[in-house]
Amino acid sequence: MKIFLDTAETGELKSAFATGLIDGVTTNPSLIAKSGRDFKEVVAEICEMTDGPVSAEVASTEAEVMVKEGRILSDIASNVVVKLPLTFEGLSACRELTEDGIDTNVTLCFTAAQAWLAAKAGATYISPFIGRLDDLGMNGMELIEEIRILYDQHGYETQVLAASIRGPVHVKEAALAGADVATIPPKVFSQLIKHPLTDKGLDDFVKDWKGTGQSIL
Ligand code: E4P
Repeated sequence: MKIFLDTAETGELKSAFATGLIDGVTTNPSLIAKSGRDFKEVVAEICEMTDGPVSAEVASTEAEVMVKEGRILSDIASNVVVKLPLTFEGLSACRELTEDGIDTNVTLCFTAAQAWLAAKAGATYISPFIGRLDDLGMNGMELIEEIRILYDQHGYETQVLAASIRGPVHVKEAALAGADVATIPPKVFSQLIKHPLTDKGLDDFVKDWKGTGQSIL
């Protein structure tokens, strides 16, 4: 499973990219607003930091305008993926941009039926929002499982991009459910590697090694 970072903060991205473990980036209008920066400028900057896909979301809700916005965003860099909402207007724009060879990410997916329509529209990625379903007392991970089965049974190549991830358990379960990608906040990326037994074990090994008085170099 690939890992994308769900952020528009270039500082956070820099340190995460340094690990060599990040395959791409997703942004959304709320993350851009939080960054306080110019949208196109920040997308261009992120695209310079990685060759991986960088999702940038259209602002309009009308298909015709979404297509125009999508083409402008796609011109920023060759690795821009145009993010579109899961509405009939969004899917119509998805179809048109796909026909132009532009990669798309259909976002705000909450049912397998929606995911099926996005695949029919030629979406490169579908973004089911796990955390927001869990917040309503529903089971977000079931949605990933259902989409995986549906896409495999019908031979759709649209990649399942698990979104709205709230913690390491979501990441593990998305991988087990067969998601192609998980887009995760930087905080969750840091949490993925942490375990108190790893920290304690390493402290003990370092201390005991010092006690031997030896050097490998
Ligand atoms: C995905 O592309 C979205 O940007 C994101 O995962 C939404 O997550 P949230 O529900 O934490 O806002």
